[in-house]
Amino acid sequence: MKPVLDFRKPLVTGCIPLAPRRGWWPSLLLLVALLPACTYDNAADLLGKNPPAPACDTVATTFSTSVAPLLQQRCVNCHNTNVRSGDVSLSTYAQVQRVAADGRLMGVITHAPGYPAMPVGGAKLSDCEIARIRAWVRQGAPNN
Ligand code: HEC
Repeated sequence: MKPVLDFRKPLVTGCIPLAPRRGWWPSLLLLVALLPACTYDNAADLLGKNPPAPACDTVATTFSTSVAPLLQQRCVNCHNTNVRSGDVSLSTYAQVQRVAADGRLMGVITHAPGYPAMPVGGAKLSDCEIARIRAWVRQGAPNN
């Protein structure tokens, strides 16, 4: 009866060509030894352990569309004309520009050493929110 697999002929697997000239079994050992290198341990390896972060658009960042609304939402309840925590108000452009220029704005939102971490009692701003504020500060913190 004709064998289903003829081991005397080169047999190409996904990873190693089997060209057994001295019997087929050494190749089988080789195949078993190398097989793990050809497989993925699990689906996470294929997908990448850390899936890529969703795109964060920092190009379109302006004070009026990105920075001010975020500060309103997360900071101004403690930093306004009536409640000036840390003697800082963030209700007007001029007030925000001042802490942007002296480095305190980036210091507090990135939780840099030497700065009180903001917002007090709230979650840290997201990486994208921080990236947007950083982009605006790097542009020179314009009133745009
Ligand atoms: C729940 C109230 C609260 C919220 C919300 C809050 N802050 Fe503050 N903030 C404070 C207090 C209190 C201080 C004074 C802390 C200190 O000096 O240790 C302060 C201080 C600061 C300072 C001055 C830091 C310095 O070193 O002089 C800045 C700048 C600042 N906050 C920015 C922000 C920003 C930006 C946000 C929003 C992301 C924010 N804060 C949210 C309460 C708050």
